[in-house]
Amino acid sequence: MKIKIFASLTIVAFMLTFTKAHAQTQSSQALEAKISGIIKKLTLEEKISMLHANSIFGTAGVPRLGIPGLMTDDGPLGVREDLKEGWASANLTTDSATFFPNGSALAATWNPGLAYRYGHDMGEEARWRKKWIMLVPAFNIARTPLCGRTYEYYSEDPFLNSRLAVQAVNGIQGQGIAACVKHFAANNQEVERGRVSVELDERTLREIYLPAFKAAVTEANAWTIMSAYNKIRGVYCSENPYLLNTILKDEWKFKGIVISDWGGTHSTVNAANNGLDLEMGSGGNYSKYFFAQPLLDSVKAGKVSMAVIDEKIHRILWVMYHTVMATNPPAGKINTPEHSKTAYDIAAESIVLLKNEQHLLPLNTGNLKSVAIIGDNATEMFHLGGFGAGVKARYEVTALAGLQNRLGKAVAINYAQGYSGVYKPQRRDTSNKYNKPDTALIAQAVAAAKKSDMAIVFVGGNREWESEARDRKDLTLPFGEQQLVDAVTAVNANTIVVVVAGAPYDLGKIKKNNSTVVWSWYNGSENGNALADVLLGKVNPSGRLPFTFPNELKDSPAHALNAYPGTDLKVEYKEGILVGYRWFDTKKIEPMYCFGYGLSYTNYRYAALHTGKTSYTKAENITATIKVTNTGKYAGKETVQLYISKPNSAVERADKELKAFKKVNIPAGQTASVTLSIPVKDLAYFDNKTNKWVVEPGKYMLLAGASSRDIKGTASVVVK
Ligand code: BGC
Repeated sequence: MKIKIFASLTIVAFMLTFTKAHAQTQSSQALEAKISGIIKKLTLEEKISMLHANSIFGTAGVPRLGIPGLMTDDGPLGVREDLKEGWASANLTTDSATFFPNGSALAATWNPGLAYRYGHDMGEEARWRKKWIMLVPAFNIARTPLCGRTYEYYSEDPFLNSRLAVQAVNGIQGQGIAACVKHFAANNQEVERGRVSVELDERTLREIYLPAFKAAVTEANAWTIMSAYNKIRGVYCSENPYLLNTILKDEWKFKGIVISDWGGTHSTVNAANNGLDLEMGSGGNYSKYFFAQPLLDSVKAGKVSMAVIDEKIHRILWVMYHTVMATNPPAGKINTPEHSKTAYDIAAESIVLLKNEQHLLPLNTGNLKSVAIIGDNATEMFHLGGFGAGVKARYEVTALAGLQNRLGKAVAINYAQGYSGVYKPQRRDTSNKYNKPDTALIAQAVAAAKKSDMAIVFVGGNREWESEARDRKDLTLPFGEQQLVDAVTAVNANTIVVVVAGAPYDLGKIKKNNSTVVWSWYNGSENGNALADVLLGKVNPSGRLPFTFPNELKDSPAHALNAYPGTDLKVEYKEGILVGYRWFDTKKIEPMYCFGYGLSYTNYRYAALHTGKTSYTKAENITATIKVTNTGKYAGKETVQLYISKPNSAVERADKELKAFKKVNIPAGQTASVTLSIPVKDLAYFDNKTNKWVVEPGKYMLLAGASSRDIKGTASVVVK
């Protein structure tokens, strides 16, 4: 009887799967028919008009055939305000949006579920604003801590980037909005980004710089991708046949549109034949763009075939049918309480507790009568600023406002600015002449700290200091912030330092001299509320650093090897695969704070690590389980990080590589059993000789820990 029921259930399940697959094939066949029908009707001139920008963010449609234009828009901080030609605000009153925390903040949550919600909510806002392609997410690897866009990007690790990128893309595209993953590829510095050639070996490209793009395309089916400004091996990314045709379109079977970065196209025939589909840019005479009249002329001259043009049109229409021309699209929404909640949750989970030696945190408000809130970053807003994308936030709660909201009237707040973060450099001004302490502001801060029970000093970067189109010159805290911290700490032993930034800084002196250090980010609309909740203990900090903080810049691989920013417009990635912690661990260099680091108000005890089996075949998944007990008083979220290491490898290997992680909520006093899984194929290295991924047989070590340097349990497995 049981067998019979089971058998008929199996048949029903099969029928359902079959029907679904059949319906999908039918609908994709119908879509193909529609697209080829349109391609037949379009004139060559109409086709060309669809292949280049006709405004700062838009392309032309073909009204005769009911084809709309495509409107793109920037993230990653949120749906950007409408701009006039020339990048000035259109000054509308209808284009405010939710400000989501910056990319490295999202990465610091180590929570792919939040990346999904980020994408989902931004997708809803984009749909409401009729922006069909969101130029999001951006996840170039943090190769140097100086890169001006480190705050926009995610992390130094390809695996962490991949897991977040996949969920961000799923979230956005679930709303019928195309994600545009960027910048493809190896755009890891802003210095000379428009001219520099990145020289790197194939293994480094495949293992470090491509994995998150590959995951976004092959796992999340990203509908568009943005070619980077730079060259790779001497060829501009926007006309690089190896990158765009061989890898992206042939190997990864990318079906969507390759969009140039703005003004990042350099040729007509090469770009058209080598894989670029859509030329974007701002200003100038759009009809003279490489993919406008010159492309028309090149087709007529037989230098670009009609098949190449039709393939591009096919890709564009295919994306349109998923976005602007989708049937039954979801409804758009803007600035909803749910979106604010997402911004809050990301911010709350991103904040990293770096040091809490005196247990000043969480704040004991019972005894607290007065607190000095010091520093420009306590009142600074981060939604706009610098060169590059921002968002006109409907609101942004500053740190000061958040603390005022949460502390109420019972605690007197003595605010002092402490330093001036006003900094309006020319685009390429990377000098550090803004590092001067302001003695008058410091004196006011000292007075405020003296008369308060406690001082919270806000320092760090801001959106002008960290910006697209320029890298920082060094890791020094700007605006005389160090002098401010020193002066305040000297007069108030209960001083908490909160660093607000999107990239590593030199915290050497603060780490040594200050008892209590919190790391926060450009943390979105709910910034101040989330921060106050962490300081007050309503939220137990669970952020973990997405990149290594070096003790000195010269400890970082690109700088140690004098391989940044390059010479004669060439930057050789001499460190190869040893980026970030891979370098520090392999070369046994002590970082200031390591990758994956972060404290909590509670403590976790790890038991032994066990694997499901001791030996695995190449087609299997390794499973590893570790029990984690919350031994403290506060519930908390712990991120278990699983690294692998290959002893006696035939090739150079990093000391360890992140291969899995899981964030779990553990109530006080309870134990969570955390199981992680690693497909054996993910243990492969890319072989430069054969151009293939190779899984070496033999023994592998699994290292489970609370950070890359705090390994709690190890086990070994054999791969057959
Ligand atoms: C940036 C892109 C951005 C584009 C449009 C470029 O300068 O590199 O990330 O999407 O501008 O604003």
